[in-house]
Amino acid sequence: MSRKPLIAANWKMYKTPAQAEEFVKKFLPLVAEQTRAEIVLCPSAISLAAVVAAVKDSGIAVGGQNMHWAEEGAYTGETSPLMLKAVGATHVIIGHSERRQYFSETDEMVNQKILSAVKNNLTPIICIGETLDEREAGKTEEVLLRQCQIALKGVVPESAESFVMAYEPVWAIGTGRTATPEMAGLAHFHIRSQVARLLGRKAADAIRILYGGSVKPDNASALANQPEIDGALVGGASLDPLSFSKIVDY
Ligand code: 13P
Repeated sequence: MSRKPLIAANWKMYKTPAQAEEFVKKFLPLVAEQTRAEIVLCPSAISLAAVVAAVKDSGIAVGGQNMHWAEEGAYTGETSPLMLKAVGATHVIIGHSERRQYFSETDEMVNQKILSAVKNNLTPIICIGETLDEREAGKTEEVLLRQCQIALKGVVPESAESFVMAYEPVWAIGTGRTATPEMAGLAHFHIRSQVARLLGRKAADAIRILYGGSVKPDNASALANQPEIDGALVGGASLDPLSFSKIVDY
């Protein structure tokens, strides 16, 4: 089954709206000819509207980096799915390890956010991955299976076909240490098998699983050549238009 590759930029807490617009201005001509991959830009919430306007008619999608599961309420500082939709976002990153690590997000919160994304027609980009301690203790597979199981609780298989998952080993994020293509390929295989157990083969075959963690222009193609890897979720190397366009083109 062929899945269209998806390359997503996670800009984290970088770029003001003006800087985000500047990026798009330089980036669009660099990827104008490419049709092989879908591209999603995930700026900070404050830059979403500027990026949505800047990518208009380019085919590039825009996503949030996080959201609350509630549609509205007294949750100071949070962004709701309705707000993401209202500014034109179509995707949302859920459960990034930085949210789990620094903002105490649990698997159960990730699950609530995923159910809310589905209800609100946002495509979730669900991040999972093991820490270095977990890998060294031989627990990688166990951790991935648990994260998938809780994240996908209550999800209707048909609604999961458009889901995007991202395997982001925590020890590879922002460290320059990438998982080898074989390591990542094996982790992706475990994730897809778990999705098949939980939601059936059809959903498992349709879901795109991205690799994230120190993806750069020079390692993107080796990772993408793994049959289980359907694209990349890129942090640092997505901040520069030229380097991100090279990853899109790998
Ligand atoms: P880096 O590409 O900077 O390692 O970040 C990966 C990441 O966290 C993407 O979500």
